[in-house]
Amino acid sequence: MDPEIPVCRKRIAVLASGRGSNFQAVIDAIAVGDIPAVCVGLVTDNPGAYAIERARAAGIPVTVVEYARFPSKAAYEEALLAAMRNCRADLFVLAGYMRILGSAIVHEFSGRMMNIHPALLPAFAGLHAQRQAIEYGVKVAGCTVHLVDEGMDTGPIVVQRCVPVLPGDDESMLADRILIEEHEALPLAVKLFCEERLEVTGRRVRIR
Ligand code: GRF
Repeated sequence: MDPEIPVCRKRIAVLASGRGSNFQAVIDAIAVGDIPAVCVGLVTDNPGAYAIERARAAGIPVTVVEYARFPSKAAYEEALLAAMRNCRADLFVLAGYMRILGSAIVHEFSGRMMNIHPALLPAFAGLHAQRQAIEYGVKVAGCTVHLVDEGMDTGPIVVQRCVPVLPGDDESMLADRILIEEHEALPLAVKLFCEERLEVTGRRVRIR
């Protein structure tokens, strides 16, 4: 990229519930200048999430919206929506966020929320995707980054990466192999969004 042309950096925020290795991959890609963005916040439903440590180490503000503290799913979603609005992000990245988002959130951020799923969608949506793949007996597995719509792992596909399923694989061996690809696929998808290179027509995402 021409160093004379100033790059307009997008504001991205991440939702994560756990370990946050995909979050870290995005943090690292921003740090080395691969993604023209600034990460403006981590929002998590889990006060014990290791992703919080990663955010703190990178100087990223953290908001905890703990599910158990709310009397209902609706109240939780309202607080989550407020936390997300507060980020004023151009893009929300779901990196191991383990809850299904309600329709108010999905509609408000439609076209600017992406999720990483450890399977080659539309196969094996939902929980334990790697276990589903092994039990089904597929020979190829992988990961998918997709835009978020109201369904479970059903939105338009941005990036996919595949890996072989080997004869002796158990769930965790396959998950580890897929995770390596996730750490490439998610930063790439975020970068394409931030560079305004995604053109979405219905289910299809063209990369400019
Ligand atoms: C990843 O496998 C991701 O695809 C799935 O949850 C896992 C999160 O891992 N949605 P991490 O927290 O990013 O390490």
